[in-house]
Amino acid sequence: MTIEAVHDPATSQTNLSGLRKLDSSPPVGRTIHPLWLRLTHWINAVAMVVMIASGWEIYNASPLFPFSFPSSITLGGWLAGALLWHFAAMWVLAVNGVVYLVLGLATGRFRRKLLPIRPGEVIADTRAAFTGRLSHDDLSVYNAVQKLLYLGVIVAGIVIVLSGLAIWKPVQLQELTALFGGYDTARYVHFFAMAAIVGFLVIHVVMAFVVPKSLRAMIIGR
Ligand code: HEM
Ligand code: HEM
Repeated sequence: MTIEAVHDPATSQTNLSGLRKLDSSPPVGRTIHPLWLRLTHWINAVAMVVMIASGWEIYNASPLFPFSFPSSITLGGWLAGALLWHFAAMWVLAVNGVVYLVLGLATGRFRRKLLPIRPGEVIADTRAAFTGRLSHDDLSVYNAVQKLLYLGVIVAGIVIVLSGLAIWKPVQLQELTALFGGYDTARYVHFFAMAAIVGFLVIHVVMAFVVPKSLRAMIIGR
């Protein structure tokens, strides 16, 4: 067995991974979400909302489908204004996203909280959720549906940034654009990734208000 020292910022303890299982039930009052996670999460949430609303205004200038977004819920006023918002928030989103990914990997948080995802558990937890039997008693442990949705939105976030870069600089980054099957396909990929993120957001915000103390834990950590 390889023994590896893991530093847990939530507890400021260094555990041996072989023993980590013993430490899986946190003592009362322990930090559920470390400060770096809360900061990156809320910066990401604001940046995402700006990207979505300005993206919808950009879309309206040349719709891909036979519908437009009502201008009351878009940002920027017109195409050029929306592009300015989109490119300004893009830096916040991308830099903050890289910080979140690096810390999530380096601290072992992703491995501990989001993995493994077992299909059987996803099915069982989805059933339990629809019949109102899914427990949210221990906020420090994600159920299988949460794990799947969080990993899914992280992947959608990576795809939307990469496809965004592909349509922003299709000449300079032509290999990336080609990877998405060209400019036009990259635009569709970008759009559908947005739709996935918005779908996640609707469920996520409802759950944040429905599950007691989960929003508080994402704000003050406990
Ligand atoms: C690094 C990050 C990103 C970059 C570089 C980027 C870049 C772009 C560019 C250049 C366009 C204009 C495409 C065109 O001319 O048709 C665009 C459109 C759009 N973006 Fe982004 N974007 C990024 C992230 C996001 C995010 C996070 C969202 C929403 C969650 C988003 C939503 C949209 C939408 C809805 C459109 C309009 C779709 C269309 O009609 O083509 N983007 N983006
Ligand atoms: C598009 C914007 C958002 C994205 C992509 C997002 C994504 C995520 C992810 C990936 C996690 C898990 C983090 C981890 O443990 O590593 C999380 C947790 C959480 N988020 Fe968001 N979030 C967004 C917006 C929001 C908003 C607007 C709210 C509240 C109104 C919110 C409330 C929470 C809460 C309470 C948690 C704690 C985890 C839980 O108990 O389920 N999020 N979010």
